[in-house]
Amino acid sequence: METNHTAAEAAITDQVIERLANTPDPRLKTLMQALVRHLHAYVREVEPTEEEWFAAIQFLTDTGKMCDGMVRQEFILLSDTLGVSMLVDAINHRQATGATDTTVFGPFYIAGMPERECGENMAETPGRPALVHGHVRSPDGTPVAGAVLDIWQTADNGMYSGQDTAQPAGNLRGRYRTDADGYYAIRTIVPVSYPIPTDGPVGRMLNATDRHPWRPAHLHFMIDAPAHRKLVTHLFNQGDPYLDSDAVFGVKPSLQVAYEERPAGHALASRFGFDGPFQEARYDFVLAPR
Ligand code: BEZ
Ligand code: FE
Repeated sequence: METNHTAAEAAITDQVIERLANTPDPRLKTLMQALVRHLHAYVREVEPTEEEWFAAIQFLTDTGKMCDGMVRQEFILLSDTLGVSMLVDAINHRQATGATDTTVFGPFYIAGMPERECGENMAETPGRPALVHGHVRSPDGTPVAGAVLDIWQTADNGMYSGQDTAQPAGNLRGRYRTDADGYYAIRTIVPVSYPIPTDGPVGRMLNATDRHPWRPAHLHFMIDAPAHRKLVTHLFNQGDPYLDSDAVFGVKPSLQVAYEERPAGHALASRFGFDGPFQEARYDFVLAPR
């Protein structure tokens, strides 16, 4: 009896895989057949009740309903919090190119943000004044001139402009360009740690699994330059209490940077317009050639 049940269950998997055998695109065929194999193996392992399976479908339905084109993308959040985004990142950056490490893109990027001068202040909301600066280079040390650094970070309330409609649209966002020496400078505020959104299905999942939603403080970078591979990464604040338990598993040791206190009147203060003490972080990026 038992054996017959097992055979019938296995036959379903074989039938579906066989039904996909004529998929014209070979990559799609691989993707679909593997999906069915793994999905069926999962169901076989956990043996859900019908109520549990419906709850799973309801969870995915709720996730889809919390996606819009711009500022809320619950499926990215789900992929991030299950570690899938960082696994895809690791698989796609296996070869050592000498480039700066990558990390998650996240759901809060907005294209077309203001182009800013070297050292321009992108903070329109209060916080601890900061200068983040350094160079962009090729692996052989050649400066990369004209690289565009597209930056985004949260305000001190832990929310991104776009997500928080009370903030000006371009607040703590902007596109900076390296000069002929590959130098960039961003005037901003020191990033703060913040919780990812918990008002949707991903929040329910974190709560039900006794996980916290916090990300360590970070500044997002997407760096693009002719003839180089695009770099998507963050700079994390050294010493942040959540570095070891990032809700989306994005931290890498090479991406941590110290913010160091500089007094009023420091040599860099007048150049970048700081009229009191500020924090300085220095970081050099390396872009792999394409
Ligand atoms: C972010 O850093 O903006 C982010 C990344 C993954 C999930 C949620 C937020
Ligand atoms: Fe972020």
